[in-house]
Amino acid sequence: SEGFLTLGIESSCDETSAAVVKNGKQVLSNVIASQIDWHRKFGGVVPEIASRKHVELMNPVIEEALVKAGVDFTDLSAVAVTYGPGLVGGLLVGIAAAKSIAYTHDLPLVAVNHIEGHIYANFISHPQLEPPVVCLTVSGGHTDLLYFEELGTYQILGRTRDDAAGEAFDKIARVMEIGYPGGPAIDKLATAGDAEAIDLPRPLVDEASYDFSFSGLKTAVLNYINNQKQRGEEISKPDLAASFQQAVVDVLKSKVTKAAYDKEVNQVILSGGVAANSQLQRELEKELTKVGIEFCYPELKLCTDNAAMIASAGYFNWQHNKEEAPFTLNANPSLKL
Ligand code: KG4
Ligand code: ZN
Repeated sequence: SEGFLTLGIESSCDETSAAVVKNGKQVLSNVIASQIDWHRKFGGVVPEIASRKHVELMNPVIEEALVKAGVDFTDLSAVAVTYGPGLVGGLLVGIAAAKSIAYTHDLPLVAVNHIEGHIYANFISHPQLEPPVVCLTVSGGHTDLLYFEELGTYQILGRTRDDAAGEAFDKIARVMEIGYPGGPAIDKLATAGDAEAIDLPRPLVDEASYDFSFSGLKTAVLNYINNQKQRGEEISKPDLAASFQQAVVDVLKSKVTKAAYDKEVNQVILSGGVAANSQLQRELEKELTKVGIEFCYPELKLCTDNAAMIASAGYFNWQHNKEEAPFTLNANPSLKL
């Protein structure tokens, strides 16, 4: 097969995924085995179960990715793997698989930061997209505002000081007993609620910094629930979901817009699992296009964890610095951007 074929491998959380991507942007296959059914009854990801499932699923998933792409190991040009952040057990499974393929077939091994992977999902969904861009990455583990002057490098403008945005969604959904993962559940419930029904804080919204904070908002929601219960008053779940989601969206929107103005970019991109939030997409789209800034986010399948985005990030990093990971590569569960 013509072109540079990267095999991507992702196993940092509860998705076992492998993908083949051509020249960093063209997805030939992107196989994702979700473990959500195994974790749902515990209300969150159980690390032990996740590692065992990754061990079971990794080889079949890689096999399927190659078959669907119509290639075999000898057609590959590089292997890219997530080495952090994430759950150490899962990461180790992916790294071991990547190392053995790279070693056996004499391919460069490229180590990818999972958060970077989320960003590159945009360059797959929108191949014409070129930096400079401002990027908001919001997922279950991270909330980062970045500035990309060129592909392969970036500057961090701000990040969360406590909980990630997705983590707040998941925790609130858990106390509301509306299901796991919390983001999609709140997103759906919010459509039937009144976003102004409950008064909630917008943490750090008036501060000059680009940092975020969501733990105070989470506490405010918990206090509201407890107070209503103590007073014997009913809680409208749709109203609470809508009011909470509005508070998160308001904060994210204000920081992103400020960054876009300050950096004078014409494009803003969104990434990470929370990028799937329909209200966040809708409001950012409206706010940014109003002032002539192009706004985009990855298609749904590429918003949440998948290996195509890892292959893409690996490809661009490799093109940028030709940095091969050593065979001593280890998992780094708390890797930062
Ligand atoms: O990127 P991701 O799949 O995994 C991490 O790297 O963390 O993100 C998962 C997070 C979860 O917290 C989930 O609740 C959130 O993304 N999420 C959403 C939506 N879909 C997923 N949050 C808000 N609205 C959604 N529609
Ligand atoms: Zn992720």
